[in-house]
Amino acid sequence: MSDKFVINGGIPLKGTVTVSGAKNAAVAILPATLLSRGLCIIDNLPMIDDVKFILDILKELGAEVTIDENQVVSIDTSNANTYKATSPLMTRMRASYYFVGVFLALYGKAEALLPGGCAIGRRPIDLHIKGFESLGANVEIRDASLIAEAEHLHGADIYLDQVSVGATINIMLAACMAEGTTFISNAAKEPHVVDVANFLNKMGANIRGAGTDTIRIRGVKKMHGASYSVIPDQIEAGTYMIAAAATKGDVVVQNIIPVHMEALTNKLIEMGVKIERGDDYIRVSNDRRPLAVRIRTLVYPGYPTDLQQPACVFLSTAIGTSIIVENIFESRFKYVDEIRRMGAKIVVNDRIAVIEGVEKLTGAPVRATDLRAGAALIIAGLMAEGTTNIYNIKYIDRGYYKIEEKLISLGADITRTEISEDEAYNLEYIY
Ligand code: UD1
Repeated sequence: MSDKFVINGGIPLKGTVTVSGAKNAAVAILPATLLSRGLCIIDNLPMIDDVKFILDILKELGAEVTIDENQVVSIDTSNANTYKATSPLMTRMRASYYFVGVFLALYGKAEALLPGGCAIGRRPIDLHIKGFESLGANVEIRDASLIAEAEHLHGADIYLDQVSVGATINIMLAACMAEGTTFISNAAKEPHVVDVANFLNKMGANIRGAGTDTIRIRGVKKMHGASYSVIPDQIEAGTYMIAAAATKGDVVVQNIIPVHMEALTNKLIEMGVKIERGDDYIRVSNDRRPLAVRIRTLVYPGYPTDLQQPACVFLSTAIGTSIIVENIFESRFKYVDEIRRMGAKIVVNDRIAVIEGVEKLTGAPVRATDLRAGAALIIAGLMAEGTTNIYNIKYIDRGYYKIEEKLISLGADITRTEISEDEAYNLEYIY
């Protein structure tokens, strides 16, 4: 039986919360350890489901993985010698596509089950394929797998028609040991792209320009093991920042890189929230309904799509009417039906949500439709008057480390409970 969260809302969050390592960096860094053919020691990994799945895939590929009492992970990949990743775990997340880039770099060929991940839009992988092809690989999709083979992997000039985090990282991985130099133009600039490049460089790669529009990768003959600490998760940090403001609380969000949070902090200030920035923390305090604002999701350093849903929930109680334009993923408003059940007044037309602020939300049974929508529903439950039951929380466990423990430490009334068979049956009829 699956679990649900039960939240009794209306309690302002207070205290200090420590942010874990970045999910989207971790899920690329872990497959990349294969490139070392040696020992990598990775610190500050968030032990979320997506990370556990990748560690299990690495073990299935022949890597030796040990985790010490401080959750520092040692991965010895010297005996991982296959170019095939056919574990069903591959389909559980989006990031499994990074094994293709890694296998191509190591063996010049790859076979991997197609990735899964949150259903937030079409999420094609054409740009990854275009990149691999430019590097000299033939790529085809057969039997639900991505199959790539290159006689000779070589450097190339690759222009991404659309800025893509996944394609940028995957091409960096594949090009690390290709012969010659690769340029990725119109590359993604997200902090986790830079983090993956830093890790690859620590393993002996020669990558420059990560964090700008153009990344240059000079192929090296060999890479080696390295120790690395994953950067803090900017989306997890943003989720707690919004939760603090939404519950009219006062929270220090620590172990973060404040400059990575600029788009969100500026929006929160526009909403009337008080922000204090330190070297590695941001304090968020608020005692009123937010002012209505306009948000357009953009690639970094713009406002991140992954914090669109949490912001929308907060804005559902704004003074005035807010507008959110979702420019990155076309189906990222599915959760709106759920918060409407809690009293929110939101109209969605294609990629635009018009949010007419109401005074308060009230508790209701709701279902997480994807990872960030799940986090947004938790914020809605914390803000709402009464009790909220959140179902489908497996999505939340994919991306947030110990979310209920962290919230409880801030004073939230949230419990994880197993749902009974009757409840699961009745749930089918709630909607
Ligand atoms: C990554 C993150 C996800 C985040 C997103 C945007 C991971 C594991 N996931 O997803 O949390 O929401 O970045 O910051 O890191 N696109 C194409 N063709 C492609 C690839 C992408 O058209 O081959 C499009 C997508 O449909 C989307 C846009 O490009 O509209 C951006 O997607 P991308 O940056 O690739 O997102 P992901 O890497 O899937």
